[in-house]
Parts: sequence; C-alpha cells; structure tokens
Amino acid sequence: MNKPLAAITGVHGWVPEYRLTNKELEQMVETSDEWILTRTGIQERRILKGEGLATSDMAVEAVKGLLEKTGNSPKDIDFLLVATTTPDMQFPATATIVCDKLGCNHILSYDISAACCGFLFALTTASKFIESGAFKKIVVVGTDKMSSIVNYTDRTTCVIFGDGAGAVLLEPHYDGYGIVDSVLKTDGSGRVFLHQKAGGSLKPASYETLDNQEHFVYQEGKTVFKFAVKNMADVAEEIMVRNNLTSDDIAYLVPHQANKRIIDATGERMGISEEKVMINIQRYGNTTSGTIPLCLWEWEDKLKKGNNLILAAFGGGFTWGATLVKWAYDKS
Ligand SMILES: CC(C)(COP(=O)(O)OP(=O)(O)OC[C@H]1O[C@@H](n2cnc3c(N)ncnc32)[C@H](O)[C@@H]1OP(=O)(O)O)[C@@H](O)C(=O)NCCC(=O)NCCS
Repeated sequence: MNKPLAAITGVHGWVPEYRLTNKELEQMVETSDEWILTRTGIQERRILKGEGLATSDMAVEAVKGLLEKTGNSPKDIDFLLVATTTPDMQFPATATIVCDKLGCNHILSYDISAACCGFLFALTTASKFIESGAFKKIVVVGTDKMSSIVNYTDRTTCVIFGDGAGAVLLEPHYDGYGIVDSVLKTDGSGRVFLHQKAGGSLKPASYETLDNQEHFVYQEGKTVFKFAVKNMADVAEEIMVRNNLTSDDIAYLVPHQANKRIIDATGERMGISEEKVMINIQRYGNTTSGTIPLCLWEWEDKLKKGNNLILAAFGGGFTWGATLVKWAYDKS
C-alpha cells in the first residue's frame, strides 16, 4: 500500500460572543476607528469574558463541534495536539486539560509553542504521525485567549489581538489528498522584537514585574511588520516553486491574520488575486494560533476536493512557514 498523507477530514471553529469594537477601543485608549481600520484592517475582535474561562474552554468548544460534524466521539481520538501561546497554566500542557474536559484521557496529548505559527507547526507535526502509521485520528487545535496577555492601556498592541479557537481532524488518505509539503523556519534572535518579558524562568513573576507591566505582549510593531512581510512571502513562494505550482494552480491562500497589509503583500508576491485569499481579520483580529483553522472553517463550504491551498504564517520567535494542502473533501 502507498504511504498515506494526512488529510484534513473536518474543521470547526469557535469564537466568544463578546465583540470588542474599534468604537469601544476609542473609549479605552488614544486611537480611532479610522486608524485601526486603515493600518490593520480590523473592525472588531471577540473577547472571552467570564470567571474561570480559559484557552482550553475555547478549544473544547471547537473540538466538540468538530467531532459532532465528523461523526466521531472523544474516544475515537488517538492524539490531540494543541497550539497555543496562552496556555491555561505554565504547566501542565493545555492539551491534557482539553482531553480531560472532553473525556478522552489516556491518549497522547501535548502543546506546541510557536506563537502565530503554532497551528502550522502542529499540523505538520501531526501529519508525520499519520504518515508513519502511528495514529489514525488526530485532532489539531489552534487556540488562544490573547486578551489574557494584552495590555488594554497600550494602543500599539491592544487593537490587534482577539480570542478564538479552531480545530481540524487529520486521517490517513491514500490518494494524494492531505498535507503535501511544508516549509517551516525559526530564528530566535527575533525574540527581542516580540515577546512576554516576565512570568517565565528568565524573569519569574514578582511585584516588580507586575508593577512594570511585564506580563503583557511586548511588540516592536514596525520591525515585526517588515520581517513578517518578507518571510511569509518568501516561504509561500518557496513552496510554490518546489511543488511546481503557479498562482493559477492555487485555489486559496490561507494566511495568518496579523495585519491586512501583510496579507495583501503576501498575496501580491504570489500573484494571487484577492478573491482567492481568505480574510476574516476584520471580524476577529489576530487570534494567534486560531487564525488559520478559523479561516478554513469559514470557507469550508466553498472548498472542493482537490483544491490546492497554501497556508502561510509568521509569528513571534521569529517563526514562519507555509504548508501546501490538497483539500480532501466536498462538504455536502
Ligand atoms: C502594530 C502595527 C499595526 C502598527 O502599525 P504601523 O503602521 O507600523 O504603525 P507604527 O508603529 O509605525 O506607528 C505609527 C504611528 O501610529 C501610532 N499608533 C500606534 N498604534 C496606534 C493606534 N492604535 N491608534 C492610533 N495611533 C497609533 C504610533 O504611536 C505612531 O505615532 P508616531 O508616528 O507619532 O510615533 C503594525 O506595525 C503591525 O501590524 N506589525 C506587525 C504585527 C505582526 O505581524 N505581528 C506578528 C504576528 S503576531
């Protein structure tokens, strides 16, 4: 038998109800709807409100919907992989908490930390367990409660991020449908431009770190923007070239939703017209690990078996990458 590819056989998303609009942000920091819209493309983002609700709760909602629509139960999952930058706790892994809440303990589960590239890195990691024959049903979740680490007095970051989760089911496919190829890269020297200063082993939480507001996202936006535009487009182009694809062969670009201007630049470099680019940043902002599965979920009705999709992302680390997916099913 041929070696299988890992096919995405279902996708589902979940976002909190609360909409934080640009108008509301105008009341919180010195900003304007016009600035946010023209500089980022964002109109509103969802925020998870409520005592005791965490990143794992959004993941659980996304996975429950995924299992229901694909006719599976939690007991059918062999392995659950969570990509997140905002784990419920420093340890244990959020994936283990998700499994406990779903009722599927005693399977393999762990987290992957790669900031906004988390979902892509997790997807490729999971695909190797399918290709090797180790597992038959893997759930990959991208989930982040960014509102838990965003400083709502810092206008340069608080307008960008939102909360949300998306999940996909991976199963073996023997006819060439699935995760075909990935180009994934990291450069830790970029950490100075985008990180969380305190709360880790380098600078454990203390009164001083709290006073200095060091538990929030720190970003030098302009620098990150330049690296994001170049690197995301580079890998998207690289994956096209090494798979002999032209822009006509690509049904959709599925970009990480960090800034509409970064998305536009990537699409332009690839020669892909705007109607073939999935964009929902206007409604959700940057949900970090959630952006790509949320896009797939919202476009699922339009996707056709055999469509070539290029997933591309850039994030803190720096991390960046592109994945070529041959879509495996028509939703009907
Ligand atoms: C953050 C980001 C939207 C800022 O946009 P920008 O066009 O680069 O803006 P700048 O940082 O150059 O700031 C320009 C001016 O707008 C101001 N500004 C910043 N945020 C603002 C806001 N929310 N409202 C109004 N003005 C704002 C700045 O203070 C600056 O003012 P100054 O010229 O008087 O100093 C943009 O840099 C970005 O998207 N960066 C990359 C994000 C990313 O990809 N992250 C990686 C993945 S998570």
